[in-house]
Order: sequence, then C-alpha cells, then structure tokens
Amino acid sequence: MIKMSIIYHSETGNTKRMAELIKEGALQAGGVEVHLMPVETLDRQTLEESRVILFGSPTYYGTMSWQMKRCMDTLPVKVEGKLGAPFASAAWPGGGGYELAEMALIQGMLIRGMLVYSGGVVTGRPPTHFGAVSHRAPAGFDADRCRKLGMNLARKGKELFGQQQNVRTPGERS
Ligand SMILES: Cc1cc2nc3c(=O)[nH]c(=O)nc-3n(C[C@H](O)[C@H](O)[C@H](O)COP(=O)(O)O)c2cc1C
Repeated sequence: MIKMSIIYHSETGNTKRMAELIKEGALQAGGVEVHLMPVETLDRQTLEESRVILFGSPTYYGTMSWQMKRCMDTLPVKVEGKLGAPFASAAWPGGGGYELAEMALIQGMLIRGMLVYSGGVVTGRPPTHFGAVSHRAPAGFDADRCRKLGMNLARKGKELFGQQQNVRTPGERS
C-alpha cells in the first residue's frame, strides 16, 4: 500500500470537489491510501510518507492562486523523486487559464525535483492532458477526468514505488 496526498486550495468548494473525485478514482485503482489535504492544514508526516502528491488550485488571474503559490514556496517537506500531477478549476473554460495554472504548478513540481505524470492521452478516455481541469464544480466529463487522473496516478505510483512501501525518499528530513 503506497500513500497519496492531494493538496488543494479551495474557497468555494470547486477545487475541493475535484480533489474528492481524484481520491475516488485512486481508490478505485486500489493499493493506495489517499489523504486529502487543504493548504491550510498540511500534515508534514503524511507528506513525507506519500510517494504521490497532487496539487490543485483554482485559477486566479490566469495562474494558480496566491494561497497555493505560498504553499508551494513553503512546502514543509522535500518532494524530490515523488510522483505528482496538477489539477485546476476555473470559471471560464477556453480562455480562463486553467492550463496556465496547471503549468505553473508543474513548474513548481519540476523545480522541486518531482516526477510529473498525468497519463496524457494514451491511457484511455477521458484524456488528462496536463492534469485534470474543471469548469467551476466538476460534473460529467470534468468529474470523469478527475477520477481518471486519480486512477492514473495510483497505477503509476504503484508501478514505481509499489515494492518500496512508505519509506522516506533519500535525503528527506526525519
Ligand atoms: C481573485 C480571483 C481571480 C479569478 N481569476 C480567474 C481567471 O483568471 N480565470 C477564470 O476562469 N476564473 C477565475 N476565477 C474563478 C475561479 O477560478 C473559479 O470560480 C474556481 O472554480 C474557484 O475554485 P474554488 O471553488 O475551489 O475556490 C477567479 C476567482 C477569484 C476569486
């Protein structure tokens, strides 16, 4: 059993709902313990033990929210070598900037040495491109995309780390 943490910022519940759906998809894949973590209450020990960490943000002015940026800038654990993916909600699909929010999250993950994965368009439908995106509260296709992202990350996490249990990544603070 590997651990997965889903960190998110949400003021009006849309991104939180995405996180819940991602958890649902991951649990469907099986073999993962999933922790939902609002940016306000990060659990350092669980993050250290998580092999997979997703980051979700509402889109604010075409990028991640400042609350999520602060979270990424001040993350209390080293995440080098962990698997990650972004997700983002927005009010305006096709121009509101949720892919840009995702790309900003991906920048943060890469710079911290994470392995970024979404499953893209090669793991079946619905495609996950950069991660999961949703127009306001996820429903229909947007909800399916969240579940699919969770499933993809759980599967890839087990493939990469399944034999290693929940030991810390080398170099992590104890
Ligand atoms: C300060 C602020 C800036 C926003 N900027 C954008 C934006 O650039 N593009 C967009 O599509 N939606 C924008 N929105 C809408 C939110 O991204 C959208 O409502 C989102 O689903 C809220 O997520 P939450 O319910 O998890 O808080 C903005 C909202 C706020 C409060």
